[in-house]
Amino acid sequence: MVKAVVLGAAGGIGQPLSLLLKTSPLIDELALYDVVNTPGVAADISHISTTATVTGFLPADDGLRHALTGADIVVIPAGVPRKPGMTRDDLFKVNAGIVRDLAKGISEYCPKAYTLIISNPVNSTVPVAAEVFRNAGVLDPKRLFGVTTLDIVRAETFAQEFTGQKVPSATTIPVVGGHSGETIVPLFSQAQPSFNVPEAKLDAIVNRIQFGGDEVVKAKNGGGSATLSMAYAGFRFAEKVLKAVSGEKGLVEPSFVYLPGVEGGEEIAKEVGVDFFSVPVELGPSGVVKANNVLANINDYERKLLEVAIKGLKGNIEKGVEFVKNPP
Ligand code: NAD
Ligand code: LMR
Repeated sequence: MVKAVVLGAAGGIGQPLSLLLKTSPLIDELALYDVVNTPGVAADISHISTTATVTGFLPADDGLRHALTGADIVVIPAGVPRKPGMTRDDLFKVNAGIVRDLAKGISEYCPKAYTLIISNPVNSTVPVAAEVFRNAGVLDPKRLFGVTTLDIVRAETFAQEFTGQKVPSATTIPVVGGHSGETIVPLFSQAQPSFNVPEAKLDAIVNRIQFGGDEVVKAKNGGGSATLSMAYAGFRFAEKVLKAVSGEKGLVEPSFVYLPGVEGGEEIAKEVGVDFFSVPVELGPSGVVKANNVLANINDYERKLLEVAIKGLKGNIEKGVEFVKNPP
């Protein structure tokens, strides 16, 4: 029996993500938690004639405990989204506190669950969750994931004109680093099957992947940020984790993980000089089996992008760690 939980289930991402999870035959029980509107969302989704039973919880009556108890996988899209003119870091003040409190709940009620964090700024909220888990003595870096899949999905889509694939996702393009602006580093040189981006078009496509989030924020014009593409990306990642847990082999997807705690991660952490970093991770029955080092053969252009990314990441990560170590 597999129980999946969505924290922030009534939101722009939460609703379509919960819908997609309800369609998955890998899930038997789906618990939806939010500070508002979950009874309605749960009632609506529960009428869909797929396997999972659906329940909805609010904070009242110990709702978080009921939602999380027995959970195998918890996906967190709870928190405020950007408006035009804001950076993801501007969300830190509100969202770090939300993620801290939800992570405390996970550490108490389902410490062995796979935790997938979508709430921004991911570069800082994942370190926040890791510190909460560490303090509670339940940190298992193999089970804590920052969801960066939307960057990979965007890379696949935007590069289609160069890959020539009918289905954009048929090309695997590693995107490493973090999840904001220049911390996002697509590695076209490591794509499978390989393809070529003409030099004159390289800056533009890299920029579009790095700032794809801004493109949506601008287009929504005050109505929030990416929700539907994010729900797809979050579902794609959650499904891979669940497939790996159920025994499927060869599943790899980049994720923002605590490198020193996963196989192969120590070496990458030494190379990049930060402990949290998104790299392709091989998934298995206990979460991360191995972090794949895709940096060895990158080209000079990508190495320069990486240098800039690491500078930005350092501050973001420290901010998250500090938030828990020395609360404001
Ligand atoms: P939204 O405002 O539509 O939904 C957020 C939901 O979280 C709301 O329903 C709200 O009630 C709920 N919430 C707030 N505090 C909560 C708490 N303490 N416990 C449970 N639920 C709580 O926002 P959205 O568009 O769904 O975006 C959610 C977050 O995801 C934002 O931080 C956004 O920046 C981020 N995001 C991340 C990625 C990524 O690639 N990782 C992509 C898109 C958006
Ligand atoms: C995205 O990449 O779309 C998300 O991180 C949301 C945002 O704020 O851009």
